[in-house]
Amino acid sequence: MSNLIEQLNWRYATKRMTGEKIPAEKLQTILEAIRLTASNAGLQPYTIFVISNEELKKEIHQKACPQPQVLESSHLLVFTNKTNISSEYIDEMMQLVSTTRNAPLESLSGFSSSLKNYFGGKTEEEKANLASRDAHIALGTALIAAASELIDAAPMGGFNPTALDEVLNLKEKGLQSTVLLALGYRNQELDLLSKAKKARKPFNELFIKI
Ligand SMILES: Cc1cc2nc3c(=O)[nH]c(=O)nc-3n(C[C@H](O)[C@H](O)[C@H](O)COP(=O)(O)O)c2cc1C
Repeated sequence: MSNLIEQLNWRYATKRMTGEKIPAEKLQTILEAIRLTASNAGLQPYTIFVISNEELKKEIHQKACPQPQVLESSHLLVFTNKTNISSEYIDEMMQLVSTTRNAPLESLSGFSSSLKNYFGGKTEEEKANLASRDAHIALGTALIAAASELIDAAPMGGFNPTALDEVLNLKEKGLQSTVLLALGYRNQELDLLSKAKKARKPFNELFIKI
């Protein structure tokens, strides 16, 4: 069995953590994996808050997400997505591509116009939804990266987004909360699921080979 499949079998959505801190280099690897993940047109329409401040974790736990992993994590990642993908934002990202690849901005003008047309025809809600999908891809990458570093992770969609947006002042930043990811170490005594077998559909139900 490949190492990756072993790591993915080892991974589970951890319900209880020990509070122990994860090493800085492992956190950095997980964050770098998120930075390198794919996004629609490479626009990366999200910002990830990396929270280790215990007071802030307490506030999030109290006001927005009463799941124990929030308090017991080493770091709490809050994935947030942009609520608008504006022409100005597309220009900023084209500038980044141009500078990084040392390519003239004009060489990107066709791509840039098609993106502006595409996003220009969407409602604010549709744009936020598209950005949220990208943020979920980043979450998936983070889950795999954490497993590869043998760091436990708890994805959480069960929270009050309005309350969390308020705690982090997201509206004024043009962001909204998408999903949370607690990183840390499993507490095997408290977490019965740490020993549970993975329940997954069999291959022949999940895939259609043509
Ligand atoms: C987007 C998303 C949101 C989730 N939200 C929660 C949550 O709020 N609380 C929780 O305990 N688990 C949550 N989970 C974990 C899933 O329940 C878990 O991944 C699934 O049951 C499969 O189990 P496994 O990941 O342990 O293999 C979430 C997972 C995803 C991908």
